[in-house]
Amino acid sequence: MEVEKVFHMKKGVGHTSYATNSLIQRTITSQAGPVIEESTREVYTTLRPECFMMADMGCSSGPNALLLVSRIIDVIDEASQSINRQCPQFGVFLNDLPGNDFNALFNLLPSFEQDLEKVGGRIRSCFVSGTPKTFYGRVFPDKLLHFVHSSYSLHWLSQVPRGLVSKNGEPLNKGNICITKTSSREIYEAYYAQFKRDFVLFLRSRSREMVCNGRMVLIFQGSFDSDDPDSLLELLGSTLHDMVLKNLIEREKLDKFNMPFYCPTVEEVRQLIEAEGSFAINKLEIFTVDWSMDTSQNLETRAKFVSKGIRAVTESLLATTFSLAIMDDLFQLFEKRIKERIAVKKGEYVNIVLSVTKKE
Ligand SMILES: C[S@@+](CC[C@H](N)C(=O)[O-])C[C@H]1O[C@@H](n2cnc3c(N)ncnc32)[C@H](O)[C@@H]1O
Repeated sequence: MEVEKVFHMKKGVGHTSYATNSLIQRTITSQAGPVIEESTREVYTTLRPECFMMADMGCSSGPNALLLVSRIIDVIDEASQSINRQCPQFGVFLNDLPGNDFNALFNLLPSFEQDLEKVGGRIRSCFVSGTPKTFYGRVFPDKLLHFVHSSYSLHWLSQVPRGLVSKNGEPLNKGNICITKTSSREIYEAYYAQFKRDFVLFLRSRSREMVCNGRMVLIFQGSFDSDDPDSLLELLGSTLHDMVLKNLIEREKLDKFNMPFYCPTVEEVRQLIEAEGSFAINKLEIFTVDWSMDTSQNLETRAKFVSKGIRAVTESLLATTFSLAIMDDLFQLFEKRIKERIAVKKGEYVNIVLSVTKKE
């Protein structure tokens, strides 16, 4: 699977699109809001640039990216008033893989720009551009950025780990699509090795692109135990397995398919940042959010919400191996499995939020 070429959130603005089904990511990012606000305020008051350059790595195609950009602009506008300075200009880079629906995102720009300029008669100029390129590698020139942000993207790996196939080509993670409760050590190690390579490359690339004392806030899925992440993808894997048992999917296809997905622990992340060495850690925290967000709703509504959200994110990867014709059945069954699961045990996204400063 060539992740960089095939991976994209469900395009457009229809009822199955990511734009329509990304409330959970918006909620998780807004829970990390205080860390984002504090970091932007601090980086602005320390560096006081005339043009504040920021990048959102893995922005996707929904409204989430621009909501966050306007929040950051508000915070810096307030901070500049408090030190009697003019609001800086803003250069905003929206980054994602080339398959991302940038057109749907750019269609939101006119109303975003209009809303920006309205506030209290102050002039707030913002220049937005798209950078379609993998964030696992260089995206920007040296020392350009004051602030980098990434929400709910870094748990996606650059590729499915090679170690999931034996030397003679035999799939090792048969019947599963990610790390599960029953995975062998070998599977966990293959996933961790890939995460380590990718995450360090991300840090190294951003460290070249950021100015000294620039700030970066990253939010991504993590786990309390990375060899047992209890993720929804484990449940999606067992739903695919149910379909194998019903002869709706060929067993070989499931045996060969794996998600490029890893949920690190806080300790794993801390060790990698310290070993890479370019950034000082200001904050590194973990928090949880219920899979269905609103636990006051009935089980059907909650399960539907979760299933639609996961479909909008994963369908392009699943479609590399399974036919699009099975997707409706798969996600109906998945919804049923989610409902059964949350009826007996709470399901939660475990999230890591970290704020780091680029060292001198
Ligand atoms: C679940 S979405 C999150 C989007 C948005 N930040 C939000 O919070 O709603 C994950 C995004 O990360 C992007 N992504 C994954 N791997 C990437 C990579 N290597 N380079 C750039 N973007 C990537 C995906 O294409 C997708 O748009």
